[in-house]
Amino acid sequence: MAAGPAPARVPARRQYRVQLRFVTEEQLFRPGRFWSPNPKSLRLEVHPAGEEARATVTDADGVCVFKCLLNRDTECCRVGKESILITLGCNSVLMKFESHAEFSAFSNTLKRCRNQKKEHSVFSQQTEEASATQYFQFYGSISQQQNMMQDFVRIATYHRAILQNHADFKDKVVLDVGCGSGILSFFAVQAGARKVYVVEASSIAQYTEVLVKNNHLSDKIIVLPGKIEEISLPEAVDVIVSEPMGYMLFNERMLESYLHSKKWLKSNGMMFPTFSDIHLAPFSDEQLYVEHFSRANFWYQQCFYGVNLSSLQAAAVDEYFRQPIVDTFDVRILMAQTVKYTVNFMDAEEEDLQRVEIPFVFQMAQSGLIHGLAFWFDVAFVGSRVTVWLSTAPTEPLTHWYQVRCLLQTPLFAKEGETLSGKVLFVANKRQSYDIQIVALVNQTGFRSESILDLKNPFFRFS
Ligand SMILES: C[S@@+](CC[C@H](N)C(=O)[O-])C[C@H]1O[C@@H](n2cnc3c(N)ncnc32)[C@H](O)[C@@H]1O
Repeated sequence: MAAGPAPARVPARRQYRVQLRFVTEEQLFRPGRFWSPNPKSLRLEVHPAGEEARATVTDADGVCVFKCLLNRDTECCRVGKESILITLGCNSVLMKFESHAEFSAFSNTLKRCRNQKKEHSVFSQQTEEASATQYFQFYGSISQQQNMMQDFVRIATYHRAILQNHADFKDKVVLDVGCGSGILSFFAVQAGARKVYVVEASSIAQYTEVLVKNNHLSDKIIVLPGKIEEISLPEAVDVIVSEPMGYMLFNERMLESYLHSKKWLKSNGMMFPTFSDIHLAPFSDEQLYVEHFSRANFWYQQCFYGVNLSSLQAAAVDEYFRQPIVDTFDVRILMAQTVKYTVNFMDAEEEDLQRVEIPFVFQMAQSGLIHGLAFWFDVAFVGSRVTVWLSTAPTEPLTHWYQVRCLLQTPLFAKEGETLSGKVLFVANKRQSYDIQIVALVNQTGFRSESILDLKNPFFRFS
């Protein structure tokens, strides 16, 4: 993921239609109506200003009738279903929004401005700020969204999964977690969804809004800028759609955000995708192993512009072997039937993904040197009409996830019929990724190998 400047902290400028009342404490606690029967709507504009935002209310002639700063010191509270009370010193102003969607969008913005420290969000607790900044910067770019939309296998499979199960979307309320361009929400509307709430934490949300407006779907698709862990929805939903899979399935830790979003799912609701299988198998690839080792040869030099680099050669080898390799391969390098581990999104909790342990026993189908373990994943969309699979297997058309291989620094020799047993342990870290430990043992000979890898820092080997 590319490093760079921080993305906008507060969503782009937005406008709302509101009614306004200046109220005293006495009025507030006295029962009775605040709103006259047919009051004219005023225009509330919110302009982002760094971590804060400026809120300005103007009348039909453009005259400003109220303005304030929204930041972590803003005192406010919700009143009834669609109103917010903001207190400035001794004065309070009550804003009533024209629709629940506008109320939700504004209150999410307000929440973001007030919680800039986010001590209480699950996301902020488990994520280093620098990692999140870099991550959302990456997804904030149009070109990155385009890359994903141009992964034909990915996009066509989502489209098929949603459209072929249109009965699950017809007249339903849908949540799109991490909507990016909003493409999955457009599919949900094509399938007949009544309303789609789309949540997106990166600055791409402002462009999603443009697409929604330009496709005349503002009445159906409601863009809620923010993190799923920090925003509120106006209602519970029937279906959640998302594309939260990273390299090796788990990278990015977005699956946890996907599971978190279930707090908005009705008890009989559906998840698209519904579950995922991660597959692993031992492989033999002498060329890859030698190539990887050779990358550290640079550090063998004893006279690099007069400097002896050789004392760092071993550290360089260690570092290179900590990198999972992202590319594709011929399935003939696989030495045994795969082992499968399932994450069922309907049942799993966020905590289940803090530490994922995958035990394995492989029956070797051929003799040779085992250089490591290869990984890929499939996800299934279980609809009431059909189950659709999206596969990233090496036997299937290539996707932007490729496959991932983890090398053993010490390869293991095994003969056909012998067993290779051990475990792969994924431990979540605050860099939105995982530390991976692989322990493998050839049971008949006692040969053992152990590797530690850093999923946050893969080596992209494809050309
Ligand atoms: C893999 S992209 C998928 C985008 C889009 N759904 C699609 O299928 O083309 C994941 C998106 O989720 C967003 N995202 C990741 N974590 C999020 C979170 N906790 N809350 C809201 N959005 C998030 C990212 O910014 C990114 O745009």
